[in-house]
Amino acid sequence: MSTHIPVLIEEVIEALTIQPGGRYIDCTLGGGGHASAILAKSSPGGQLLGIEADPDNIKIAREKLAEYGDAAVTVNDNFANLEDIAERYHFRPVHGILFDLGLSSLQLADSGRGFSFQQEKPLDMRFNPAQKTTAADMVNTLSENELNRVLRDYGEETNSRRISAAIVRNRPIRTTLQLANIVEQAVGGRYGRIHPATKTFQALRIVVNNELGNLKSALKQALSLLGHEGRLVVISYHSLEDRIVKQFMAEESRDCICPPELPACICKHKAQLKTVNKKVITPSLAEVRTNPRSRSAKLRVAERIIRQNEKFITLGKSCVLIKVKNKEWRTPVRRNLQKEVITM
Ligand SMILES: C[S@@+](CC[C@H](N)C(=O)[O-])C[C@H]1O[C@@H](n2cnc3c(N)ncnc32)[C@H](O)[C@@H]1O
Repeated sequence: MSTHIPVLIEEVIEALTIQPGGRYIDCTLGGGGHASAILAKSSPGGQLLGIEADPDNIKIAREKLAEYGDAAVTVNDNFANLEDIAERYHFRPVHGILFDLGLSSLQLADSGRGFSFQQEKPLDMRFNPAQKTTAADMVNTLSENELNRVLRDYGEETNSRRISAAIVRNRPIRTTLQLANIVEQAVGGRYGRIHPATKTFQALRIVVNNELGNLKSALKQALSLLGHEGRLVVISYHSLEDRIVKQFMAEESRDCICPPELPACICKHKAQLKTVNKKVITPSLAEVRTNPRSRSAKLRVAERIIRQNEKFITLGKSCVLIKVKNKEWRTPVRRNLQKEVITM
């Protein structure tokens, strides 16, 4: 059985500014590596809500976190449902939210779901086997043009035309090695250390799991859960994810997002975040040496700022801000009820 080594662990703990008694959400529990470090650092009194789409991974995480008892709440769900999950478990406001995107070493090595072309497995690639579409469904049913678009847009594959034509010629394709060989032949063999099927596998996995759509949606939801000065911490592993995170943090850190050619602001957008690291954080050489999987990791951190009188809708409820000593927070306005104060 393989293990998953948590990436940039010290940097993540520092970025979350973990404090005893704090409340945190780990949106990508995986094997529970980051989560157990967060719980250890936030003890006594810390709480963690861990979300994980993969039912096999969550079992491993639950075993790892068992020593923390009720302080760890684990949910087998998709982080696309972040707000609903946090509401269900009364996890709002929180001091920090972590996303460690992509897949874990456990899934690559042991899941049997065909994430890797190193072993002969069925072409599945679903994080959660309850999802409908598998990678095999995609390669066997999409048109050549659709496949080309998937490989180009989600794998940034420059040979997408040749590969999609070869896939269509060789259908049906059922297994990982079958697909890897078809890609290798389509591009004329192997050059260098990187397998020519790497980008094809990445593209299929991203689409099967709607990774980019779920990330965009969850980042927005995270804003409504973070308390004042709460930290949003995201580790991404490829440029498509990193671009989304970077743009989101940059846009939510600006007071106006109107196109520059407009003479005056019409968007009324207000900054809800302040970026913490202008320069992306990457693993040290020593970390890459001990954990080569960390080599493409990029860590970005932003801090939630909540202003007096900020109003917004969350989960269909209107929210306002309440000033609590030096901290500000909001709470849903309930008809005929006194405003309820939530302290951080
Ligand atoms: C890189 S691993 C996280 C490893 C974890 N930080 C640790 O230390 O063990 C990413 C995990 O996120 C999960 N995941 C990916 N997308 C998800 C989503 N939309 N919702 C919930 N979990 C997701 C994957 O199944 C995988 O287990």
